[in-house]
Amino acid sequence: MNYDIKNKSLHISGKARIEWADALMPVLKQIREEYAKSKPLKGVKISACLHVTTETANLMRTLKAGGADAMLCASNPLSTQDDVAASLVIDYDIPVFAIKGESNDVYYKHLNQVLDNKPHITMDDGADLVSTIHSKRKELLKNIKGGTEETTTGVIRLKAMAQKGALKFPIIAVNDSKTKYLFDNRYGTGQSTIDGILRSTNVLLAGKNFVVCGYGWCGRGVAMRAHGLGANVIVTEIDPVKALEARLDGFRVMPSKEAIKIADIVLTVTGDINVVDKHHFLDAKDGIILANSGHFDVEINKKELQKLSVETREVRPCVQLYKLKSGKRIYLLTEGRLVNLSAAEGHPAEVMDMSFANQALAAKYTIENSQKLKNQVYKIPEELDARIAQLKLKALGVEIDTLTKEQKEYLQSWEIGT
Ligand code: ADE
Repeated sequence: MNYDIKNKSLHISGKARIEWADALMPVLKQIREEYAKSKPLKGVKISACLHVTTETANLMRTLKAGGADAMLCASNPLSTQDDVAASLVIDYDIPVFAIKGESNDVYYKHLNQVLDNKPHITMDDGADLVSTIHSKRKELLKNIKGGTEETTTGVIRLKAMAQKGALKFPIIAVNDSKTKYLFDNRYGTGQSTIDGILRSTNVLLAGKNFVVCGYGWCGRGVAMRAHGLGANVIVTEIDPVKALEARLDGFRVMPSKEAIKIADIVLTVTGDINVVDKHHFLDAKDGIILANSGHFDVEINKKELQKLSVETREVRPCVQLYKLKSGKRIYLLTEGRLVNLSAAEGHPAEVMDMSFANQALAAKYTIENSQKLKNQVYKIPEELDARIAQLKLKALGVEIDTLTKEQKEYLQSWEIGT
């Protein structure tokens, strides 16, 4: 078996951690048990580019149980858990090409290695497989039946491709399932971002001015959790509706050029570039901490920060000091890459359970519907989304009401008025 990982001997700790996560992922486990019997992915080659975590390992096990020939590379150079990569290779016979801290060149070499398997399905987190296939590996298009996309940033890129007629195979936007974005983006990013900031800095959040740039589902989660720990949360936005929601959710809202002057911590989660730029660095307070939870490391303008600095050095693992000419100190966490996956372990298994249940069901759906699907971006069907929610509620021991016959009729009627 071909693979490229840091160290095979790490597999024992990796396996124990994969099993720990598995116990917290009952929905995915149930799908895995079903797939092991019905083999809906028999002979299907799946190339996955996802964060190499314990939760992803359980997804890969599920795809394999369903009969797939599945391979994995990392969707970010810093997010790989090397012990998990080792266990997937040694204990589960699943090829992995990922090493934490790999260079950009090695990142793309690994991505191309999983593509060398000539996939029928791509599974992306950030659309790097799709964009590589469409730009440099067009010969693979003829085998591909479809792909799935895990994250908001990837879905935005793919919808832009579809709109321009550039997308050459159908995509299921897993991110757009309710059982994904309402939980993973909000509660997952909310908790794991705070976890990453605390593990890397160990600062007290209570009483700090904590600026959240972007009030999408991820930004909301971070704002909510920072508030819960006693921070004074300030939100910056470009969307008037989201800004209004942030304000009515109880947060201060102001332009980033004002927020930066009082910020102790700034967290970007917008999906866009240079959200924290040169003028922000110049206006920031001494000792400010900057971090990013958006998919790409483009939200904080690192190049400008480097240019402005007279000294840079690592002061703690994951914390880089940039000293400006004025003597001001700016601390950047995990090189501006996803702080939740680089300094912590990503989202907890309980939310990834639903995200990856969506991935597993989306792979089966793509195979079963490949004749019908056009080269567009689709959501997973609502019944599947609802089924995931039902399974999760069941696993949590939560029961809910059902409509009575009378209530159903009332909802379907239009004659009854005041
Ligand atoms: N994205 C965010 N958290 C993750 C996790 N724990 N595993 C895989 N992808 C993730």
